[in-house]
Amino acid sequence: MGMRQEAFGVFVVGSALILAACSSQPDNSREVAAGQRLHEETAGGVGCASCHGMNARGEGLAPDIRGVTADQIIDSLKNTEDMREIALTKADINDIVAFLAMLKEKALKAQQAVAAQQD
Ligand code: HEC
Repeated sequence: MGMRQEAFGVFVVGSALILAACSSQPDNSREVAAGQRLHEETAGGVGCASCHGMNARGEGLAPDIRGVTADQIIDSLKNTEDMREIALTKADINDIVAFLAMLKEKALKAQQAVAAQQD
């Protein structure tokens, strides 16, 4: 194989990897947007943010909930006195999880950026 062909092969494999990486992250912007609205305004008529804070970091009243799972939310709705009045559908919970995962990812990226600056 000549140099040109080899370079082309690397290019094809590289492109395929990049495409695979992009398509492995499905577009969930609809869920994230719906979850944000539930979190900030509508869940239980008040929004999760009224206790957990606008950025879900916890504001003294209630803990940081960025990156929690659906099971953690379902458990809390059952067992936390303050959350018992909140009724959510499975789809609502799914949307909130997507939104809270996005916040967690953002926070991790910000931390990594700070760590990179300190290197
Ligand atoms: C009226 C206040 C209030 C609202 C509204 C509220 N929470 Fe909570 N939540 C709490 C408190 C207080 C705790 C801590 C309970 C404990 O530690 O026993 C908690 C705990 C949790 C936990 C467990 C976290 C952990 O680390 O164990 C999750 C998950 C959670 N809430 C999710 C939500 C979501 C999602 C919403 C919106 C749908 C919401 N909460 C709305 C007060 C609230």
